[in-house]
Amino acid sequence: MISWRRNRRQIRKLLSMSTSDAAMTSLVEEPAAPHHPINLGIAGLGLAGALMVRAAQLDGGVSLVAAADPRAAPLKAFMHDFDANGYTNVQDLCKDEAVDVVYIGTPHQFHAEHAIAAAAAGKHIILEKPMALTLAECDAILEAVQRYGVCLVVGHTHAYDPGIRAMRRVIAAGHIGRVRMITTLNYTDFMYRPRRPEELDTDAGGGIVFNQIPHQIEIIRTLGGGKLRSVRASCGVLDPTRPTETIASAFWDFKDGTTATSVYSGADFFNSDEFHDWVDESGAPRDPQHASSRRKLKHYAGLSESEQRAQQFSYGALKLPLHAPMYQPHFGITILTCERGEMRSSPSGFTLYDEHGAHNFALSPSTGYEGIFNDLRLALSTGNSPRHDVHWGKASAEAMLALLQSARERKEVALTHQTAMPHDY
Ligand SMILES: NC(=O)c1ccc[n+]([C@@H]2O[C@H](COP(=O)([O-])OP(=O)(O)OC[C@H]3O[C@@H](n4cnc5c(N)ncnc54)[C@H](O)[C@@H]3O)[C@@H](O)[C@H]2O)c1
Repeated sequence: MISWRRNRRQIRKLLSMSTSDAAMTSLVEEPAAPHHPINLGIAGLGLAGALMVRAAQLDGGVSLVAAADPRAAPLKAFMHDFDANGYTNVQDLCKDEAVDVVYIGTPHQFHAEHAIAAAAAGKHIILEKPMALTLAECDAILEAVQRYGVCLVVGHTHAYDPGIRAMRRVIAAGHIGRVRMITTLNYTDFMYRPRRPEELDTDAGGGIVFNQIPHQIEIIRTLGGGKLRSVRASCGVLDPTRPTETIASAFWDFKDGTTATSVYSGADFFNSDEFHDWVDESGAPRDPQHASSRRKLKHYAGLSESEQRAQQFSYGALKLPLHAPMYQPHFGITILTCERGEMRSSPSGFTLYDEHGAHNFALSPSTGYEGIFNDLRLALSTGNSPRHDVHWGKASAEAMLALLQSARERKEVALTHQTAMPHDY
């Protein structure tokens, strides 16, 4: 692994820059955000809620003050662990005066209702992907956020991974030229982890398109500047017992002529962590394995999948170590081609390839959530919009829905609600 000091020397040499150490550090490191305390309420204590609780504990400036979940076990565990308030519904959580930011990690079909309730109660919002299931729902959230004057960040997504953000800063600094082509691929076990019934129904927001593709769209839009022009995609349902999209591939065209390809499979035969030195999505080492989730699902055949999911992935049941994983979080392999170099995400950060060869950059350990809190703090301190704001989230939702439409109609679909990633990202 390469040290920070060597990183800075290397990147300066590589990019033929004559800037100070401080300037170089700010290029690849996550910039510090202004101090701004966050009193967080968690809506939904499943897998996403548990990941957010861990990230909040590690942040140091976030207080976990309340949570809402209709299920007793995770709620009781949360209230006990943080001496916090607990509610069985999100509306009551939003009324809690101790809460100033609500994280919405509830199932997709509730995102709009819960975000609007939080906004109406004057709470700032971190809203899980996808922002909502339709553009009409996105517009209703947008209207509520504007009317009540609150700040909304869409996340977590893997566009917040330090490796993606560092590559974005190298691009924005302009030293290896314009981005021309992006490739992102991920092969996982997604469809064979225990699923709630609605997660197996596309019309209810199930399948990989609503759950996993938003990560790829946000990565592509972050690296490519944000403004997509069109998509041509194909999707596949592979297993009649899990009748929703398991695979998707798409060709994305940006307004400036940059192109991107995204490939995703949740079939659990091949796992592309094999290409990542067997480091998993969170950045933790994992045992080499393929199809193990399929075998495990059969093993628990007596329990409903919802029950299996709750027993394995809820807050309290899921044991997450209280430190950032030793490698970087990632969403498969991402490679981008610029005019004077190429970059890819790597287990320790990212690698830059130029005419001198390959150069690895190790980044500080991360949960992948630091950028969310930083963007929120920056927005709350300055009054500016966060980078992944409602407009950005709506643009990503538009891209997700267009991918599905393109696959169904077998034709290219134009995108009209796209927003640019600010140049200072
Ligand atoms: N960004 C990420 O890495 C990531 C990871 C996992 C999930 N997610 C997202 O998080 C959201 C939840 O997914 P999950 O995998 O955690 O699901 P999950 O099934 O593991 O957990 C959902 C939780 O929400 C609770 N819930 C259901 N209805 C509720 C309601 N009306 N009010 C309050 N709580 C309610 C359930 O009891 C459960 O505890 C989805 O939007 C998903 O896309 C994001």
